[in-house]
Amino acid sequence: MKKPENQYPFLQACRRQKADYTPLWLMRQAGRYLKEYRALRKKYPFLEMCKNPELAAEVTLLPIKKFNLDAAIIFSDILLPLEPMGVDLEFKKGEGPVIRPVREEKEIARLRIFNPEKSLSFLLKAIQIVRREIEGKIPLIGFSGAPFTLLSYLIEGGHSNHYVLTKSLMYQNRPLWSTLMEKLSEVLIRCLNAQVQAGVQALQLFDSWVGCLSPSDYENYVLPYSKKVIAGMNKKVPLIHFATSSSALLEKMKEAGGDVIGVDWRIEIGEAWARVGYDIGIQGNLDPVVLLGPVDLIKKEVKRILDSIKGRPGHIFNLGHGILPNTPVENVATLVDMVHEYSSKVI
Ligand code: CP3
Repeated sequence: MKKPENQYPFLQACRRQKADYTPLWLMRQAGRYLKEYRALRKKYPFLEMCKNPELAAEVTLLPIKKFNLDAAIIFSDILLPLEPMGVDLEFKKGEGPVIRPVREEKEIARLRIFNPEKSLSFLLKAIQIVRREIEGKIPLIGFSGAPFTLLSYLIEGGHSNHYVLTKSLMYQNRPLWSTLMEKLSEVLIRCLNAQVQAGVQALQLFDSWVGCLSPSDYENYVLPYSKKVIAGMNKKVPLIHFATSSSALLEKMKEAGGDVIGVDWRIEIGEAWARVGYDIGIQGNLDPVVLLGPVDLIKKEVKRILDSIKGRPGHIFNLGHGILPNTPVENVATLVDMVHEYSSKVI
């Protein structure tokens, strides 16, 4: 039976409306812990998978066919908008993303603000395919990186431990920092709006690495840009604003905007929610390592999280960060059932 959109538990939770049970999805739910994903990856490089709409749609649906998840998230990557900006991007085996860094004023000036309808048409096509497949069942989430997290990849050239180059630019050259953050914000507004136009019913903004900043630096150097991106949505769908190691930043992240704040496991979720206030939803926050087992541990942690929420409408269950490649699939199935079953009793 097809459900109308206002009956999707995920969207109800985004709007803090009562749902029959706590909805859940998992960051990186279409990833390497699935043997079907690994089989496809033997045939195609990661970027090729993202750029082929039929393949990206197929990968998006892999976890949906296996588990009773409450939302799909389009298969893509936060780094894809960098290519049409004019940046070289590669995913190397075992290394993750490798980017030819952009640090000089002249290089930054050359970065292009592009039209996603043209340059990311594969993503928009994939969104349309997935929407047709899951219509009446579950909603589709689109996403982008937040300006800071994307900027850190551009400047560092990949993942970084201490963000020394990123923070040096921030402290030492405010005008250049502003130029780059402005440019990225403009690109991200376009990318998010194009996804909504193509059919996503919610968005997640990943500010994965912003927890490396002090609250005052967040406020000064990041908040205005994240705020601008979120305010730049020209058609409203619920937006989840996510970061890791963010417990010192939660109130300021709320100020930047979003309908739901996503937190990792480093903070008690009930405490995080009380702090940001109940006029906004909360998402999280199982430690992905818990999913490695045993089942009793998963059960205990699921209960702890749901008990800490106390049945208040507006909670989306998720991991605190992406699912790990060595997660047993049977544990994912167990988790999904447990969250649905236990929350339907508590609510
Ligand atoms: O959540 C989903 O299932 C949707 C797809 C998705 C991917 N990346 C697919 C992916 C999403 C939402 C992302 C977001 C993303 N990408 C973030 C923000 C979330 C986070 O983890 O903090 C970041 C920082 C990236 C950048 C990125 N992409 C890294 C650091 C890596 C390598 C590390 C890793 O986990 O492999 C990727 C590659 C990537 N993105 C993979 C997938 C499924 C693995 C690619 C492969 O080897 O098959």
